[in-house]
Amino acid sequence: MIKSAKDIGIGIIGVGIMGKGHALYLSDYVKGAKVVAIYDTNLTTAANVAKEVFKKTKVLPKVYQDIDQLLGDKSVNSVIIASPDHLHAKHLTQSVLAGKNVLCEKPLASTVKEAKKVAKIVRESKSIVGVGFMRRFDKAYLDLKKEINTGKYGQVLQIRCTSRNVSSPNATTSMLLTNVAVHEIDIIRWLLGEDIVSVKVNYAKVTKKANPNLSDPISVICKSESGVLITIDIFANSTYGYEVGMEVLTENGSLVIENLGSLNIAKNFKLPGRKPGTLHKDWMGRFKPAYIAELKAFINSLQKRKLDSNFATAEDGLAASIACGLGVKSL
Ligand SMILES: NC(=O)c1ccc[n+]([C@@H]2O[C@H](COP(=O)([O-])OP(=O)(O)OC[C@H]3O[C@@H](n4cnc5c(N)ncnc54)[C@H](O)[C@@H]3O)[C@@H](O)[C@H]2O)c1
Repeated sequence: MIKSAKDIGIGIIGVGIMGKGHALYLSDYVKGAKVVAIYDTNLTTAANVAKEVFKKTKVLPKVYQDIDQLLGDKSVNSVIIASPDHLHAKHLTQSVLAGKNVLCEKPLASTVKEAKKVAKIVRESKSIVGVGFMRRFDKAYLDLKKEINTGKYGQVLQIRCTSRNVSSPNATTSMLLTNVAVHEIDIIRWLLGEDIVSVKVNYAKVTKKANPNLSDPISVICKSESGVLITIDIFANSTYGYEVGMEVLTENGSLVIENLGSLNIAKNFKLPGRKPGTLHKDWMGRFKPAYIAELKAFINSLQKRKLDSNFATAEDGLAASIACGLGVKSL
């Protein structure tokens, strides 16, 4: 039963960390939609998340163990895909062919071939499809883009990014590109309005915490179309905390997103202090407001029948996957 006739019925595909986060943030903070169905191959996980949603909304989502049942459910207008990376292309294809609108977690696909195929299916459909690059909805990144667009800093010359996860027991080196660097690649395309044309990986001394399939940390060196040099330093097993930061070096200043999520600008010989504090354990804490803003923008897009212009489209997802593919080739 949908609580209000106006509520849009949302189905969630995969309710691990991210899918559960979306289900609960949607229930707690977003008006105009309700989670009405959940599909996860782990029925216990799905049933537990359904119960948590019920506590918040008094709507008990139906639990399915088969995607076709969820997609055949008439109360499901749109879906959120938060299954593992390698299933995104398949689940997105099935959802779009069933006529659903989709918020698909990043990446669009885990290979370039699949990304091309699914982007074509989305292009030829009438579905509203956004890709979950939530940094586009984070205040610090929005402030940074606004500052750069004023033009007062001159051209962007170089960008240095850091991405550090506390622990990643199952990561592989290629996942550091397709799962991790894909965030930086998307946000840099969004900031600069240009594509990334070359991507190469440099290796550091390897931490003892890395599994045999992982070289960790790495430095990903990229160039944009106009020649901006981009370095993405990734450490998947930092142990000390979750950090995502970025410095944009311009002709007239250095604009830094600090690891706790504020924008600091060094210019005219003034250096702002780095904010001290306690690091987050993971992305759910650091980017919670961005996930909520992204969900609000998605529901708003459904109400207006047009994808919010700040969202990453399937074409953006494809461009990011192509750039990551260049990095994977360089391994
Ligand atoms: N935007 C972001 O900041 C962000 C952050 C973390 C993860 N992600 C992305 O979200 C996705 C999920 O990540 P996670 O950390 O929640 O992973 P997770 O392993 O915690 O959850 C994945 C869930 O999918 C379920 N699943 C597995 N196979 C399935 C299938 N065939 N059909 C349906 N469900 C299936 C699993 O049982 C599990 O509950 C990944 O693609 C990841 O890259 C995005």
